[in-house]
Amino acid sequence: MTMERYETVLHGRDVEALDILITIHCAVDNPNILDCTHNTGKMWKKSSYKPIRMDIDALFDLDLVGDFTNMPFGDKQYDIIVFDPPHLPIAAASKNSSKIWEKMYGITANGDGREGNNVSGMFLSFLKEARRVLKQDGIVLAKIADLVHNHRYQWQQVDFINAVREIEMTPCDMLIKCDPCAGNLKSSKWKNVKHLRKAHCYWIVARNSKKCEVKKQGN
Ligand SMILES: C[S@@+](CC[C@H](N)C(=O)[O-])C[C@H]1O[C@@H](n2cnc3c(N)ncnc32)[C@H](O)[C@@H]1O
Repeated sequence: MTMERYETVLHGRDVEALDILITIHCAVDNPNILDCTHNTGKMWKKSSYKPIRMDIDALFDLDLVGDFTNMPFGDKQYDIIVFDPPHLPIAAASKNSSKIWEKMYGITANGDGREGNNVSGMFLSFLKEARRVLKQDGIVLAKIADLVHNHRYQWQQVDFINAVREIEMTPCDMLIKCDPCAGNLKSSKWKNVKHLRKAHCYWIVARNSKKCEVKKQGN
């Protein structure tokens, strides 16, 4: 059997990115999947996968409310953990912007690390838990976006890779997703920003293993 060799840049949606990454990197056929930042689960629309739906915010339709830095699960339960932390600057919730983004993307102004300006500070505590809850060779699929805050570029994908290495998991692949249907957020604070507008995000694969590639079980 020959497998299609997908490219690193996808002009498409998260659901397609998830399909590709699960096909290439997951070693089992019917993976046990945890989405630990589920929100309304937009990224699973039209997906054939049905993850366990967890979020810290009880507002959403979930299987359970939980914190990805202290997960309510025993060890080695999941083949895949999907991680999509808040990734919009709090400017998206500024006075003249549409407040809808606050809830949709989980950004808060509570000082609880969910401000979205830079969520890198949560990566290590998330990954410690992910490594515990993942089976051997299981994967984290992390949707990470760099952003500009206070006129400074926030290198969140670099911070994420560094955290994966620090925790002794293996960063094994990356897909750049450019969604042609992505919204163009408006904020009065962004008029004077002298950086390019982000038109992409990264899907990073981190494996709970020293190995980068694993064979499909049964092959
Ligand atoms: C960008 S949204 C996720 C969107 C989701 N992937 C979708 O497709 O609809 C980020 C989510 O992370 C959640 N979140 C933030 N901090 C969290 C934590 N410590 N534990 C679990 N969920 C958290 C927020 O409540 C928010 O719903």
